[in-house]
Amino acid sequence: MTQHHPDVEIAAGNPWYLADQFCSQLGTRGRRRVIEDRWRVFDAMLHDWRERHGHARVLTVLDAGCGDGINLVGLRGAAAHQDLLINLFGLDYNPLRLARARRAAPQVRLQQGSLYSLPFAGDRFDVVLCNHVIEHVPDATRALAELSRVLRPGGLLILGVPNEGCLMGRARNRFVQPRIGRTTDHVHFFTAPSLTDALRGAGFCVQRLERETFFFPCSYVNACCNEFGVGHWLMSGLRRLLPSQAGGLIAASEKTANG
Ligand SMILES: C[S@@+](CC[C@H](N)C(=O)[O-])C[C@H]1O[C@@H](n2cnc3c(N)ncnc32)[C@H](O)[C@@H]1O
Repeated sequence: MTQHHPDVEIAAGNPWYLADQFCSQLGTRGRRRVIEDRWRVFDAMLHDWRERHGHARVLTVLDAGCGDGINLVGLRGAAAHQDLLINLFGLDYNPLRLARARRAAPQVRLQQGSLYSLPFAGDRFDVVLCNHVIEHVPDATRALAELSRVLRPGGLLILGVPNEGCLMGRARNRFVQPRIGRTTDHVHFFTAPSLTDALRGAGFCVQRLERETFFFPCSYVNACCNEFGVGHWLMSGLRRLLPSQAGGLIAASEKTANG
C-alpha cells in the first residue's frame, strides 16, 4: 500500500484533505462535547503518567499528525489545568492543515513531515500524542516505530483511533453507509485487541485503554444523539453496556527501556 500524497489529493479536491476540522469537529455543541470528553481523557492520561514519573513540570510534547491543530489547543488546556510548562511541537504532512494549525496555535513549533521519517532526533519527546492518524497510514508498524524512536524511554504515547473494526463500524461501512466504506482513506480498522497488539509489537507497554462515545452505525444518528444532553448520556450508557462497540479508542502507553 502506498502513502497518499497530500498535494495531489488537495489538487484533486479530495474532501478528506481539505475539510475544515475546526468546523467538522467543534462546529456544533454535540461535536464539541465529544472533543471535550476526549481532551479530558488526554488530561487524565497525562496526569496519571506524571504521577508515575515524579510530577515533571516541564515537558516536551509532540502532536504527530496534528491536522488543523485542534488537539494543540486541547493540550495547552491540559497543561494549564496541571500547571505545566509544555514545549509543544506539531507535525503533519498536509500543508493546508499546517497553515490552519499555525493560525490556531501560533506559539507552537510546527513542521511539515511524514510519520514514516519524523524530522526529530531520537528520545526527543517526553510525550507524543497521535490522534486519529495511524488508521490513515499504510505502514502503521513503521509509523509506530518512528513514534517510539522520538519518544524517550519511559515517555508517554497517547494514541487515539476510531474503533472502526467493531461490528457496528463494519455494519456502517458495509451496509448502512457503504459510501463511507468506499470513499474513506482509512486503511486500518482497529479494535481494542488489534490496537494493543500493534502497540505491544512496537515495544510499548500499554498502561490504560479508554473508550469514547458509542459507534452507532449511522453517522447522522450518531451526530444527532451527541447534540442533545440526553442523547450524549444515552451514548455513554450504550458504551458502558457494550464497550467493544465504542466509537473510539485511546491508549496510553509507555516506551519501555528497550522499546
Ligand atoms: C483525521 S486527521 C486527525 C488530525 C488531528 N490529529 C485530530 O485529532 O484532529 C488525520 C491527520 O493525519 C495526517 N496524516 C495522515 N498520514 C500522515 C503521515 N503519513 N504523515 C504525517 N501526517 C499524516 C493528515 O494530514 C491529517 O491531518
